[in-house]
Amino acid sequence: MNDFRYIKGELHCENVAIKDIVSAHNTPCYIYSHAALVRQWHAFDDAFDTRSHQICYAVKANSNIGVLNVLAQMGSGFDIVSGGELERVVKAGGSPSKVVFSGVGKQADEIKLALKKGIYCFNVESEAELHLIEEIATHFNVQAPIALRVNPDVDAQSHPYISTGLKENKFGVDSEDALRLYQYADKSSHLTVKGIACHIGSQLTTLAPFIDAVQRLLFLVKTLKENHILISHIDVGGGLGVRYQHETPPTISEYANALLAQIQDPQLTILLQPGRAIAASAGILVTKVIYLKLSGNKRFCIVDCAMNDFIRPALYQGWHDIIPVKKSLQMQPLMYDVVGPVCESGDFLAKDRTLSVASGDLLAICNAGAYGFVTSSNYNSRPRIAEVMVKNNEYKLIRKRESIEALFQEESIW
Ligand code: LLP
Repeated sequence: MNDFRYIKGELHCENVAIKDIVSAHNTPCYIYSHAALVRQWHAFDDAFDTRSHQICYAVKANSNIGVLNVLAQMGSGFDIVSGGELERVVKAGGSPSKVVFSGVGKQADEIKLALKKGIYCFNVESEAELHLIEEIATHFNVQAPIALRVNPDVDAQSHPYISTGLKENKFGVDSEDALRLYQYADKSSHLTVKGIACHIGSQLTTLAPFIDAVQRLLFLVKTLKENHILISHIDVGGGLGVRYQHETPPTISEYANALLAQIQDPQLTILLQPGRAIAASAGILVTKVIYLKLSGNKRFCIVDCAMNDFIRPALYQGWHDIIPVKKSLQMQPLMYDVVGPVCESGDFLAKDRTLSVASGDLLAICNAGAYGFVTSSNYNSRPRIAEVMVKNNEYKLIRKRESIEALFQEESIW
């Protein structure tokens, strides 16, 4: 959170006071630091600079085209999981030739779109998908570039909802099936074998599962070589965790060094798909206290953002620091559950936090730049909130707050 700091007791993003952004655009709103995005992306890029590599930022973490544009300008590639994400990348100025397409349920129109735009590679997740891609490529008489996303059957030791590398998860193809599928693809006149991929989960805080997974992939690369199938890249996925509370994830350079020590073949280009580690610390969610309420011996701090705006606490028991926008010693520090207006008991942003707050105060939910706005919804007919980007001493609205009318303008009466 280097790019969010207090100056004379007022929280700033880079050189802009958060209260000034709120005066212009109201709450709740997401605020992103341009400098933080640049720094985090470069940390990955620099850490791999001794080797041929490509960072393919995982668009799902934060897909605002303002954010994607910052990354595209630095030469980032992108990991997408839908036609919608591909259109966003193109709109943001990203190059399809640096796009990898992951996901277990790619549909024919998405495959067609990706072939038309000329993406770098499909990360194929099943035999049926391989056949559909081949069929479409044959129909259009083009070559479809493919990698198999292999399920290495390793435990990411993360939250069960965001662990993807175990056999019981829906992702990737079984290692035992990989050779056969590669042999099939290698013989096909409309499939071009490019590489091998994996992604074992998100918010990993230790290196061991990454190393384990990459070793299993490298074993397969060796088997492919013995079978005269040569690939040009190894895609290690995303997943590097961030510090939300007390976690101590490896640094980006520790992560890079651990992978580089394993992947020694200089012929293999290394692809990475980081999402969270680039975007999380680059964003905060600013909210206003509506009411303070005492119920029995429980205190609630009711704020104007809710689970529909930021679902991580409710869905993954995500812990996010909550800090005041203006430091004040006026109110007595008390323990609160910070909750939103949505009618569900699962609607909380934090539990048992000591805060010195009064109604009308502004609070910032930290490390909200990844999997924040992107997972928001209109539940309880709440318009999706504004997104602002700060660059040095300027800021720009990069997504307007939705209007109430927009919520039902596509609906109709019978
Ligand atoms: N590549 C693939 C194929 C993925 O499925 C994901 C994330 C990534 C890359 C990026 O992983 P990262 O570097 O961000 O860990 N909404 C959840 C996280 C879901 C992650 C889904 N896949 C959360 O808020 O924790």
